[in-house]
Amino acid sequence: MLTIAQITDLHVTTRRDPLNHVRNEQRLRQVLRSIHALKPRPVAIMASGDLVDNGRPDEYAELKAILDECEIPIWFGMGNHDKREAFLATFASGFQLDPDGFVQYAVDFPGLRMIVCDTLEEGHDLCGFTATRAQWLADTLDADRVTPTVIFMHHPPIVSGVRWMDPEPDAPWIGQLAEAIRGRDQIKAVLCGHVHRAFHGLLAGQVVATAPATSIQVTLDLSEVDPGQPDGREILVAEPPGFVLVMTEGGRVTTHTCVAGDYEPAVVFTRPFNFI
Ligand SMILES: [Fe+2]
Ligand SMILES: [Fe+2]
Repeated sequence: MLTIAQITDLHVTTRRDPLNHVRNEQRLRQVLRSIHALKPRPVAIMASGDLVDNGRPDEYAELKAILDECEIPIWFGMGNHDKREAFLATFASGFQLDPDGFVQYAVDFPGLRMIVCDTLEEGHDLCGFTATRAQWLADTLDADRVTPTVIFMHHPPIVSGVRWMDPEPDAPWIGQLAEAIRGRDQIKAVLCGHVHRAFHGLLAGQVVATAPATSIQVTLDLSEVDPGQPDGREILVAEPPGFVLVMTEGGRVTTHTCVAGDYEPAVVFTRPFNFI
């Protein structure tokens, strides 16, 4: 068995934003504690974007100080709150960019291939996935059509129903992504972040799933909203931080959506299991 943990939407910041500085750091540290305690310990952590809140160099320095204590290798993807230049200035060592300068790459683990896509369009919150990036993904997928593969990308290509977070379902980038993943049977899941909430769906016959944020979560309010008319509704909520655990064994891939926290055991294994 091999496992990889996905963390997302860390939104690490500095003392310039005291509330989020403390809250997001505490929550990220809680998630990292929970991941380190997993049995077996994951071989890698994938941080799928919105690593920091404003893309500033001092925020990436804060993030690096936290992650320097991590005992598990970490890979990174870009989210809409990130800035490539500032990220690379802090985390450049060992990083490969694709020929167009995007932070996207493939990593081969024993029995599992991970492909990380860059969906960032700097200065915009909406997904920046383009035909060029779709072609890179198709080519990268075609380099190995056999090994079970998981794709990580910050922006999910399916709707959650939380209107103010969702893409247009027929946005061109979603069609381009669908064509890149359709029929490539080695794909076992497309794993995303951005919406700060776990949900699942299908695109082009492939499983798409999002991870909860390590920071705060988006409120599950599926009622209509006019983005130009603030109505006082709750939009973010201090639900517990979470992460996703990707498990592969024998060519199969399963994902767990996990709540991070320190919880008391409810029952312990003191008598043999007696299945009927
Ligand atoms: Fe986010
Ligand atoms: Fe995001």
